[in-house]
Amino acid sequence: MKRFAILLLLVFASGLILSSCGSGSQPATEEKSAAGALPADIQAMMPKGEQIYKTKCVVCHQTTGLGVENVFPPLASSDYLLADKTRAVAQTLNGSKIEMIVNGKKYTQEMLPQVDTKEDAVAVINYVLNNFGNNGGFVTLDEVKSVEVKPRTAAPAK
Ligand code: HEC
Repeated sequence: MKRFAILLLLVFASGLILSSCGSGSQPATEEKSAAGALPADIQAMMPKGEQIYKTKCVVCHQTTGLGVENVFPPLASSDYLLADKTRAVAQTLNGSKIEMIVNGKKYTQEMLPQVDTKEDAVAVINYVLNNFGNNGGFVTLDEVKSVEVKPRTAAPAK
């Protein structure tokens, strides 16, 4: 409840800041894709990456890739993501439960494993690296060959 109140405050505060800078019409991220500069095999996996993003990631990281401050970290202009693509593939594949600082904000919630294969993890991370205004290059299957697919634990009882 307290967290929700803080979120509301943040949303309100960012609205104030935006409306106080003139037109306030500047979008937080550009819908720009750098896919044109990518190798053909990476470009070929984009539709699959997009489909995975739209079905699995969007609920937390949002259609904008901006996430929810202090709850779900941003993938748009994420300093943490762009610093280590192999780590991003590993986290998407095996989940992540650590304290991380992304663009100066702290995140502590757990992300469960999101995909079952390295191919899917690489495809969705390449999609993320080249959308939401990111111009993050790409990652190949070869580069993540040392990442192990950890055994899935049974779903926690609800
Ligand atoms: C249920 C919510 C949820 C879903 C769904 C989800 N994530 Fe996450 N994601 C998180 C949380 C929470 C963290 C922070 C984990 C931590 O602190 O260890 C995170 C962290 C990350 C990070 C590293 C931090 C960053 O911002 O760069 C990446 C990369 C990432 N997620 C990618 C994905 C991708 C790709 C998908 C879809 C295949 C996905 N996530 C689906 C909640 C989610």
